Amino acid sequence: MQTHGEPRILFIDQSGQIGGAEVCLLPLAVRCMRRSEVLLLSDGPFREQLEEAGVQVSVDMDPRVLAIKKDRFRLAALAALPGISRQVRRIAHRAKSFDIVFLNTQKALILGALGRALHRKPTVWHVHDIVSRDHFSRVHLLFIKWAVAIGIDHVIANSQASADALIALTGLPRSAVPVVHNGVDVARFRGDAAQAKSALAKLRELPGLPSDAFLVGLFGRLTPWKGQHIGLDAIARVTNARLVLVGDALFGEIEYAKGLRVQAEKLGISNRVHFVGFQQDVGSWMRAMDLIVHASIRPEPFGLVIIEAMAAGRPVIATNGGAVREIIRHLQNGWIVEPDDPARLAEAIDSLRRSPELCARLAAQGLTDVGQQFSIDRYLRQMTSAFSDMAWPGSRARRDETLAQSTNRPESGQNKIKPHP
Ligand code: UDP
Ligand code: GLC
Repeated sequence: MQTHGEPRILFIDQSGQIGGAEVCLLPLAVRCMRRSEVLLLSDGPFREQLEEAGVQVSVDMDPRVLAIKKDRFRLAALAALPGISRQVRRIAHRAKSFDIVFLNTQKALILGALGRALHRKPTVWHVHDIVSRDHFSRVHLLFIKWAVAIGIDHVIANSQASADALIALTGLPRSAVPVVHNGVDVARFRGDAAQAKSALAKLRELPGLPSDAFLVGLFGRLTPWKGQHIGLDAIARVTNARLVLVGDALFGEIEYAKGLRVQAEKLGISNRVHFVGFQQDVGSWMRAMDLIVHASIRPEPFGLVIIEAMAAGRPVIATNGGAVREIIRHLQNGWIVEPDDPARLAEAIDSLRRSPELCARLAAQGLTDVGQQFSIDRYLRQMTSAFSDMAWPGSRARRDETLAQSTNRPESGQNKIKPHP
């Protein structure tokens, strides 16, 4: 059998900020950096992080395209048409010297798919979203459907929940939508005691924090669907607990972030809620908590913070919906509550606060499960062997290894949406 080297991949991501999709791209780009590059459609700390890791990065920004937001999709997209057309041509030109074009975000999907006819390179969309009305407008969903139809050769979904939504939207067969669950670097999140102590020390410096406070951490960007307001409402009902909100308004949701502080004041819990902003060293911050809560009120496409909390050896409460049941088994390795229900969330927090034994049992099982099912090595192995198969279809043995753990196992030659021209 002919042996190939590593494919050259142009990874495209719209964000300079570090959200979950970027956290997933970083180790992949590092693993492939000998021959691959990252193209960002806006600048920010993610570029710095990639560069520090030694990845070749470039930024191609168009202000009009940048201005397109999910909630004002239609008008902004119309205004940006000339910019879109220029950027599509530039991206297609760049793509010609690569073996694969990898689209990591929504704007990357649209621009990359539009350019597919120009560069003719196998194009893969890494699906980090649940493409349903829970998250997108009708018009946006139409664009997604059309982009997949005209310019995507392969997709890889981050969960079965994301895969199912894509299948429902596009009518693709299950075999064309393989699932590769995200992974976490367990060793890094378990970390060492010294690091955890330093985050704890920072926490203990927070005004008025008693040394025996029960700390509940909610990690993630401040945005309504991540449910920080539900976290506040719940913590108001558990008088002995404190809430630490780790994260910031990354994509312009400043009003929501301000509103959370107002809500805390109105609830009379400002002294029990700590806004610590965006933190790089999430592992240490997680280990400094007694309990970690995920509070999304819409179906979570995956939820990296959940597997990170498990890897940090902390008990987790997560809200039902999306991929949560692919990760958490209720009362085995975590606790599941219904979304948008602060009373139930408060009950769960209080039960765990009262039961250190249950906390320890859930955390221990969580750590075992995450090591077995959500390791970063498994994620990287599955992703990179999928790339080999996309670049050089027919390397069957590798493809089988890639998708061995995917529930959507393709038959030979079927993990492709359509044949390459
Ligand atoms: N995160 C971070 N610093 C923070 C808050 C969050 O680095 O202060 C990271 C977090 O560790 C996780 C990612 O942001 O890796 C969020 O990913 P997730 O999949 O949970 O949610 P998303 O925002 O992508 O929907
Ligand atoms: C998206 C999703 C999140 C997922 C992340 C990485 O940002 O909202 O649930 O964990 O991508 O796949």
